[in-house]
Amino acid sequence: MEIKGPKANGILGSLKDYSRDPWQFVNDCHEKYGHRVKVRMLHQRAYLLSDPADISEVLQTQSEAFVKGRTFKKLKLVLGEGLITSEGEKWKRQNRLMRPVFGIKHILNLVPSINAVIKEHCQWSEGQVINVHEEMNNLTLKIIARTLFDLDITSVAPTFLKDVEYLMHFLIKRVRSVVNLPTWIPTAEHREYHAASKRFDKLIYSLIDQRLKDRNHSKDLLQILIDARDDDGTSMSHKQIRDEIMTLLMAGHETITNTMAWTMVLLSQNTDYQEKLHLEAPTFWENGKLQESNFNKQNLHMSVIEEAMRLWPPVWAFMRQAARNIELKNLSLKKGEIVFLMPYFTQRSGDFWEKPKDFFPERFLSNSKIIPGSYLPFGLGPRMCIGKIFAQVEAKLILAYLSENFLWESTKVETQTVEAGITLRPTNNIKMRLKLRQK
Ligand code: HEM
Repeated sequence: MEIKGPKANGILGSLKDYSRDPWQFVNDCHEKYGHRVKVRMLHQRAYLLSDPADISEVLQTQSEAFVKGRTFKKLKLVLGEGLITSEGEKWKRQNRLMRPVFGIKHILNLVPSINAVIKEHCQWSEGQVINVHEEMNNLTLKIIARTLFDLDITSVAPTFLKDVEYLMHFLIKRVRSVVNLPTWIPTAEHREYHAASKRFDKLIYSLIDQRLKDRNHSKDLLQILIDARDDDGTSMSHKQIRDEIMTLLMAGHETITNTMAWTMVLLSQNTDYQEKLHLEAPTFWENGKLQESNFNKQNLHMSVIEEAMRLWPPVWAFMRQAARNIELKNLSLKKGEIVFLMPYFTQRSGDFWEKPKDFFPERFLSNSKIIPGSYLPFGLGPRMCIGKIFAQVEAKLILAYLSENFLWESTKVETQTVEAGITLRPTNNIKMRLKLRQK
């Protein structure tokens, strides 16, 4: 069957429409042409794919035939050669070293640190109105920083969190723009970028040096990265550890922020679930100790978070580039052509989900079958999110704390709009009014 798409006019093709509003452009394409859309931007041929069978082929069955491609090269400016940006043998080695660090055993050891940050941060009072995105952003950045370094990083380096935020926004801006000036041109923005990078690197290298002198430090993520050994006994270079730390700070922050912001928005529209969560949350603890069997099973907390990520997948498009000519089912890709996998459309399509627009967390509680390739908030295949367990544990701990201690409602009801950057975030500057729960 012929794959259709918007008419590609002139040299630019669809670039002008896309650049004007990428989110609108992909929504229009999906609405008009369905799960396989052919587009051209300048000389580049690309496909927008949201059929689960295509997604499984690209990310799983034929994953070795694809690379991450051009956008990821731009990310190297800040992330260096960490797990997200590396390819081939380099990625394989880093993956071998890093995956075990993010297993359930290590992550459950981080629960006391994560919970301490949540308690410190969420000190809100009766009737207080909070900006949800801002609060979740600050909270999740503090959590990833605390679990990496097991210290209050702002007391050692007061500008650290600000620098990380700055570098992230600098990077997002460059990824979005078609043309970027080289960073050696001394604009005010570039000077700030160099200054923030320098402060960041200096701090990380000094923390690594301190750790190598003091071998008795607790097992935070930094220490686990320092101790990680490949099969041949080799460890990561200091530069590699720096790149992985930056990668974890970036990858483990914005995504989870948006997950929590969307979860809160959906729960403010479905208040009966706030009550159900309030009843479940105390079962996770006994005398201040995590009840792992209750916490780890497929409970309502997990299902609510999964349903929020189904409706609003933080990573709403994944890019891959064909490393050679490839045959997918009825789709021939030439080397260099790009595919964008679009979970937002897959996860909201009546072709693959029952009542797809409804907020119905129970769909994840029951054993109803999910079509392979139709649910991928953390990706699929070998490049799937390394922080999945970390993110799930963190999200459940935050949600449990909120449900146990607060009720929240939107200060005004209006149509939710979105901002689609690298991740999908709610706009409207969402404000929630909090009520304290009676103890
Ligand atoms: C709700 C939160 C999160 C979501 C939705 C999410 C989503 C994703 C997705 C979709 C990918 C795959 C991208 C691709 O295939 O192109 C990915 C990769 C990755 N994520 Fe996450 N992530 C989350 C949290 C985290 C956390 C907490 C960390 C670390 C602390 C993390 C670290 C990474 C890394 C290092 C990769 C690259 C893996 C590789 O290429 O081998 N993520 N994430």
